[in-house]
Amino acid sequence: MRFEAAPPARPRRLAIVEGGESAGEAPDAFALAVRSGLRSRPKTLPCRYFYDDQGSRLFEQICDLPEYYLTRTEDAILGEHADAMVAGWLADPVMVELGSGSSSKTRRLIEAALRAYGALHYVPIDVSKTILEESAEGLVRAYPDLRVTGFAANYRDALAGVVERFDRPKLFVFLGSSLGNYEADEAVDLLSLLASSMDPADRLLLGTDLDKDPAALEAAYDDARGVTARFNLNILERINRELGGRFDLGRFEHRARYRADLRRVEMHLVSREAQEVAIPGAGLTTRFDEGESIHTENSHKYTPEMLRSLADRSGFEEEAAWLDRRGLFRLQRWRLRSSRP
Ligand code: AVJ
Repeated sequence: MRFEAAPPARPRRLAIVEGGESAGEAPDAFALAVRSGLRSRPKTLPCRYFYDDQGSRLFEQICDLPEYYLTRTEDAILGEHADAMVAGWLADPVMVELGSGSSSKTRRLIEAALRAYGALHYVPIDVSKTILEESAEGLVRAYPDLRVTGFAANYRDALAGVVERFDRPKLFVFLGSSLGNYEADEAVDLLSLLASSMDPADRLLLGTDLDKDPAALEAAYDDARGVTARFNLNILERINRELGGRFDLGRFEHRARYRADLRRVEMHLVSREAQEVAIPGAGLTTRFDEGESIHTENSHKYTPEMLRSLADRSGFEEEAAWLDRRGLFRLQRWRLRSSRP
């Protein structure tokens, strides 16, 4: 695949690289995903479609909720250990972040790298070009010794571009327990893809939520102010907005349940009554029984053993790990396993 640099009407320390035709999703990808998800039994919708502009704003609000300990806890661990996390690199390092969003947590790592090495090239990867541009502009303004090259593409295409352009030691970072959205086998696929993009001198810093008391987990995904409910329901609003869907949001209920057997929190949208909903843009009318649900998200929760096994299965070994005092969340630094199969 080929990458083309965007026209250069911006500071020299900032560039946005867009993947070619194949990198963005096809224009009808959402319609096809909705059609296939709502025709499956049980009904499902892919959680990546939560994040349109409104969904991204709601997610930012979730990160500030008292019940949603993940963001705050990861930030506290980074605040305490960022220097150790970026230590042991050579001069002139590159930091590649997957799914960067508008992350303020990243600033902790950027500042630590600038303290240690005096300069840094930060390479965020995100599907949203708008979010990349906004955060990149803020970053180069804030840090004179920082260069930013954003990749607006999916992980696979962006990683190929990163490997092609940067042959210096890299720290890959994947924060926020985003890995938790993947089932174990998919997580191994993604991590193996990362491993295949890495050299022995490179490192992966991975932030993951830990398994814990089900009540605390369910509260984190079903907050008292109902922000997570709005976030979940927003996917139906998006279907209404983009595909002319006729979902009546009042007829669906947000549900978040911890499944101890699968070690994950599942989010569902449950139909409060038997009903039919037309979605012209997806060429579909779908009917619901009372109590029937659409499964919208999995958030897997890990034990340290599970994480080490994921590392092993995808060609990594753990080099260091950091937890908060209460043991809620874990960051780990991985390197390629020395004895690769
Ligand atoms: C961004 C995928 C890590 O699973 O905790 C927050 C998304 N869903 N509240 C998570 C989310 C409901 C979040 N991740």
